Amino acid sequence: MGSTTAELLARKDICDIVIWNRTEGTAKGIALDIMESGPIDGFDTKVIGTSNYADIKGSDIVVVTAGMPRKEGMSRDDLLKTNAQIVGGICGQVKANAPESKLIVLTNPLDEMVYLAKKVTGFPRERVVGMAGILDSARFRTFIAQELGVSVESVSAIVLGGHGDFMVPLPANSTVNGTPITELMPKEKIDQLIQRTRDGGAEIIRLEKESSAFYAPASSLLQMITAMLEDKKEVLPCATFLDGEYGISGIFMGVPVVIGSNGAERIIQLKLSEGENAALKASAERVKALTKQVDLML
Ligand code: LAC
Repeated sequence: MGSTTAELLARKDICDIVIWNRTEGTAKGIALDIMESGPIDGFDTKVIGTSNYADIKGSDIVVVTAGMPRKEGMSRDDLLKTNAQIVGGICGQVKANAPESKLIVLTNPLDEMVYLAKKVTGFPRERVVGMAGILDSARFRTFIAQELGVSVESVSAIVLGGHGDFMVPLPANSTVNGTPITELMPKEKIDQLIQRTRDGGAEIIRLEKESSAFYAPASSLLQMITAMLEDKKEVLPCATFLDGEYGISGIFMGVPVVIGSNGAERIIQLKLSEGENAALKASAERVKALTKQVDLML
């Protein structure tokens, strides 16, 4: 996922890129390979590969994709212990070498790993954010577009909550050119699409067996990175630390945030129905339980 993200970003020609991998040759090989596509595709992005953390000094943005991916039959939560060690170690190095950076985390279980990243680095909440909602929303948009036979570009959708089986797609806020999908499809169909969205990551693993998704996650990361680099103030669903917003405190979870050069700059408070609020609270309870386990490890 890291290399796919680096490749997409390199094509934009908007920043230098450092690819870190614990195996130096892998990092250097990928970096060189990406740069060698520059003459053909027309970009000059400098890409460095390294296994030395000192090389991330001065980075504006650090993206953590490292960790064990899920295998078939595993939930994202099953990865907690293994990935907490990996992400914890990396974040200690980020704090030491890039203390001014904005940190984007993508490792699963997502909401808990971002929480760990914030704890380990001590960065303010604006500078620690998790990527999941963009991916989950993109999956929901894809399924809506396929169902209605319209372009994905005409569909906007939003998925909040934890990045897991309890994520909360919002049909009333999901539209085709402004018309809510609740007016375009029967409830049973919407429920099916919501379930498919919740299972979106597992569906890819079931098909590919040896790999989990990485194209759409990398595109999602790219959107966040670009919004920060270009100070776009884009409103995107991201895992952010909640401090009373939506009536939830002390955990990271997906809500709409304004993403700009300062990171997750502002949380947008949507008006939710009673049912949506209850679903969000249920999702928060799941995240809270697992976050407690992270606290016990620290
Ligand atoms: C997925 C992983 C990134 O949903 O959680 O594909």
